[in-house]
Amino acid sequence: MSGATNHTNWLENQFSLAGKKALVTGASKGIGAQIAIDMAHAGADLILVGRTEDSLQKTSSAISEIGRNVQSIICDFAEISTSQEMLSQLSKMEIDILVNNAGSISRAPAIATKSDDWHRIIEINLNAVFQLTQIVAEGMLARKSGAIINIASLLSFQGGINVPAYAASKHAIAGLTKSLANEWGALGVRVNAIAPGYIETDNTQALRDDPDRSASILSRIPVARWGTPNDISPVAVFLASHAARYINGEIVTVDGGWMGR
Ligand SMILES: NC(=O)c1ccc[n+]([C@@H]2O[C@H](COP(=O)([O-])OP(=O)(O)OC[C@H]3O[C@@H](n4cnc5c(N)ncnc54)[C@H](OP(=O)(O)O)[C@@H]3O)[C@@H](O)[C@H]2O)c1
Repeated sequence: MSGATNHTNWLENQFSLAGKKALVTGASKGIGAQIAIDMAHAGADLILVGRTEDSLQKTSSAISEIGRNVQSIICDFAEISTSQEMLSQLSKMEIDILVNNAGSISRAPAIATKSDDWHRIIEINLNAVFQLTQIVAEGMLARKSGAIINIASLLSFQGGINVPAYAASKHAIAGLTKSLANEWGALGVRVNAIAPGYIETDNTQALRDDPDRSASILSRIPVARWGTPNDISPVAVFLASHAARYINGEIVTVDGGWMGR
């Protein structure tokens, strides 16, 4: 084999997830489903976490067709504090890659935001992420190896409009990412985040249904289009792979240039 071929193989291996087990939360649809499927294409076996078995079925079938092992775990993150059985099940699994993707949004001005909505968003987008990460990272730290990817948001940097709990939770995710990266980097576990821009999923349906908001959002995106889950998933594969071994504590914006405008 020539030196050039060797180097090509070496480079391909940098991005491979073969032999890894990845857990993706919120894998039923949108960004999480695409990340799970593309991690399977990169060679990983998958654990999918979602609210119902039915909602995970499509992603699960796609991963089986790729030829990777897949298992589903059911959990409503709004009830994470009463999900001890699920957390204890996870604590016994060897997980190499954790993608904290599940997230919810509630749109209302601050004064009109109901206390229940505030707590639900903080529970799903922040408290559940911390609890799950604690459980999964314990095994990673014992094995001195792991990659954690949190799905942050442009609202990890900006306030947004009428989404106070969401913006607060996503700012906190940025802080948590850096805090854990500082603590665990020397112990073999890297923690990074992806901050997606405006992506065509159910999360942004209300914005795309509003012609004024939609046009105003589009006018600020330098690449002049909304993003898709396919724009995000390769970045998650990269951050999980050996190619990203020196990237830690980073919040990678994948936003078509929005933040530079
Ligand atoms: N779309 C964007 O423009 C955008 C931008 C920045 C950040 N993000 C973030 O990207 C992540 C994925 O969102 P998406 O855009 O792909 O939206 P999506 O299509 O609405 O998907 C959200 C996922 O989270 C799951 N989820 C919601 N509440 C849950 C709960 N209580 N317990 C367990 N799972 C729950 C959903 O499960 P069900 O099927 O059961 O509903 C679904 O799998 C979120 O963290 C979101 O904040 C999205």
